[in-house]
Amino acid sequence: MRPLHYPQTYMVCLFPLLCNLSPFVAADNKAQSKRGLAYQNDAHKADNKLLLSAESPVAWYYTWSLWPAPEVNDTSGVEFLPLVHSTDDVAKDDFRKQLDGLPRSSTHLLAFNEPDGDTGSGGSAIEPEDAAKSYIERIAPLRSGDGRTWNISHPSVTGSPRGLDWLRRFNESCWDLDREKGCPADFVAVHWYGEYQGLAGWLDTLHDFYKDSPSSSSEKQELKFWITEMALPQQDDEATLRMMNETLPYLDGLDYVDGYAWFGAFRRGEKANEWTGDAVSLFDDEGGLTELGSLYLSSGGDGKDGDSGGDFEPGKKGPPGNDGDEEGAAASLGVVSRWAVGVAGVLAVGLVAW
Ligand SMILES: *[C@@H]1O[C@H](CO)[C@@H](O)[C@H](O)[C@H]1NC(C)=O
Ligand SMILES: *[C@@H]1O[C@H](CO)[C@@H](O)[C@H](O)[C@H]1NC(C)=O
Ligand SMILES: *[C@@H]1O[C@H](CO)[C@@H](O)[C@H](O)[C@H]1NC(C)=O
Ligand SMILES: *[C@@H]1O[C@H](CO)[C@@H](O)[C@H](O)[C@H]1NC(C)=O
Repeated sequence: MRPLHYPQTYMVCLFPLLCNLSPFVAADNKAQSKRGLAYQNDAHKADNKLLLSAESPVAWYYTWSLWPAPEVNDTSGVEFLPLVHSTDDVAKDDFRKQLDGLPRSSTHLLAFNEPDGDTGSGGSAIEPEDAAKSYIERIAPLRSGDGRTWNISHPSVTGSPRGLDWLRRFNESCWDLDREKGCPADFVAVHWYGEYQGLAGWLDTLHDFYKDSPSSSSEKQELKFWITEMALPQQDDEATLRMMNETLPYLDGLDYVDGYAWFGAFRRGEKANEWTGDAVSLFDDEGGLTELGSLYLSSGGDGKDGDSGGDFEPGKKGPPGNDGDEEGAAASLGVVSRWAVGVAGVLAVGLVAW
């Protein structure tokens, strides 16, 4: 799925010192960390700054789009993963140009969001045959050759039998179209909504699937996994906290998992949580960390217990006085034009997605 959201806007940083995240401090907390953020470039800049601060173990993020967040840049030690949502997006002339313009620290690209899901829930509803064709023509070439190259994920299906069936048909189509290479990939993007045991089972299933698939072994390398959406939906705070508490150490300890992102970086009571329920939120209504948010930022992300080095007690808020809830503050020409680019981007990506 994908959160419901307000139009994405692009604003420059009003207070550069606050926005800048020291690359030196950042390195320590993030170097070992698999922890990431499923992040909407939404209204609450203070929340986002807290999550992406140098002390936070959050080492990577994505925005369900090709557009990075303005709060983060190449020196922050947080990798941005662009996500190409649909076959229409890769067919656009400026697709390659947009990728070329991303910070050098971006090296991984996510392909096709929930192609087995319908567009109403943020899926991209792509037939496996069409996805394979588009992947081979437009995405696989990004892995090598002239210019900038990328580590590419296979499409991230929903965590369900339907998702697995989609992957099977995708695999068949890939080999039908290219008998030598199929649809080569560098990593696998995984979605999961449910209990911890279910997540472990789903990872086992996918791990087996990819072990047997020549689309990975053609290059004799084990594919790494990135869980790009996960949560326990529609449960209370206690159950949700327990699920996260079981899941984080498990994923930290799995060698074939390189990254994971909780769904999501939202406040309680926001539209993004409509389906999952509010208990998945990392922030309360006032922008303070929930217990869940505190756990996500405090427990290291590197398989070790204890602190990430930052103070992320429940209730902690992001830097005050710089919350971008109001957009009027930044009315300069530069801002307006970046904003326009952002909105155009949403129209381009968003319209297709819904
Ligand atoms: C990153 O952001 C900081 C402050 O916002 C700025 O000083 C720095 O030049 C930026 N670096 C890049 C590579 O854009
Ligand atoms: C793929 O990711 C690895 C790190 O995981 C990085 O060293 C490498 O440069 C990336 N490859 C490309 C093509 O960016
Ligand atoms: C993918 O397709 C190839 C070619 O048909 C087949 O040999 C392989 O078993 C398939 N992989 C999976 C996991 O279904
Ligand atoms: C998380 O699990 C550990 C043991 O694995 C336990 O000591 C701790 O109390 C749990 N914390 C929460 C918030 O459930």
